Amino acid sequence: MVGPGTDIATGYGTGHGSGHGPVQGGSRQHSMLPAMNLNGTAAIVSGGASGLGEATVLDLAAAGCRVVVADLNTERGTELAKSVDGAFVTTDVADERSVAEAVAAAEGLGAPLRVAVSCAGIGWASRTVGRDGTPHDLGAYRKVIDVNLIGTFNVMRIAASAIARTEPADADGQRGVVINTASIAGIEGQTGQVAYSASKGGIIGMTVPAARDLAAIGVRVNTICPGIIDTPIYGTGPGSDEFKAKLVAPIVFPKRMGTAAEFAQLVRSLIENDYMNAEVIRFDGGIRFQPK
Ligand SMILES: NC(=O)c1ccc[n+]([C@@H]2O[C@H](COP(=O)([O-])OP(=O)(O)OC[C@H]3O[C@@H](n4cnc5c(N)ncnc54)[C@H](O)[C@@H]3O)[C@@H](O)[C@H]2O)c1
Repeated sequence: MVGPGTDIATGYGTGHGSGHGPVQGGSRQHSMLPAMNLNGTAAIVSGGASGLGEATVLDLAAAGCRVVVADLNTERGTELAKSVDGAFVTTDVADERSVAEAVAAAEGLGAPLRVAVSCAGIGWASRTVGRDGTPHDLGAYRKVIDVNLIGTFNVMRIAASAIARTEPADADGQRGVVINTASIAGIEGQTGQVAYSASKGGIIGMTVPAARDLAAIGVRVNTICPGIIDTPIYGTGPGSDEFKAKLVAPIVFPKRMGTAAEFAQLVRSLIENDYMNAEVIRFDGGIRFQPK
């Protein structure tokens, strides 16, 4: 780890300047201090009441962020927001007005809004054509796309528009960061995951164009594709333990489910590293999903 104030300009890849002193892009003095310092900023986390979102809320709050927990689950969301001195807003990510209210609450926390993390999502298992010949229910397909894909876009577009109203945080003109949650099922979806995989593939596909669009306002966009992470999405109790043991078998290393805290750590790394942009990152212990 290079310390604060260290000059990291090396001239690598510039085609000139190597061995002739520091080469710098513009007048900015680079430092390894994270410019996207979370202390004293505000953030919004959709799906923040449970699992990956909850761990992200806790981590961002520990870093000094005021956080809006935006979730359908009022009871858990309210309790969590209270515990971190944040705010809870009952939010349906697929609903325009609902997300606008949550983002407005984040803007009203008395600190510049710099971060939007989308974790809200739902699962669905159904084949394109069932064993009995019935086609996939179209309403269910639409619902998954609506929550997972349109919901993620809805949070990103409204939060980024609010972030655009803040002063830049650094000499690069950076104002904030969007982190979206897809899934490795968006890359290699299994049998029965056609709706879920389409929704997550859409999130992956938005990453590059959204990063390009939002560059104009100094906002980076990165997408995380989790593998098998231990959260309430897999249920609780003895039945779920058996199910989870089966899921772990194909994981390469470490031979266990990921933890929500590890996910939150990655979110924070992506926020704090100013050069991470337009990237889709697998977070999966090396697993590659088999067809079933
Ligand atoms: N846990 C995993 O292994 C895993 C793997 C890949 C991807 N993911 C994705 O990560 C995200 C978080 O999953 P998790 O495991 O923490 O699940 P979770 O069920 O623990 O949490 C999801 C949260 O989203 C909220 N939510 C659902 N629909 C919503 C809506 N319309 N508006 C607002 N909030 C809504 C729920 O109330 C819940 O609090 C999801 O998008 C999921 O698809 C999870």
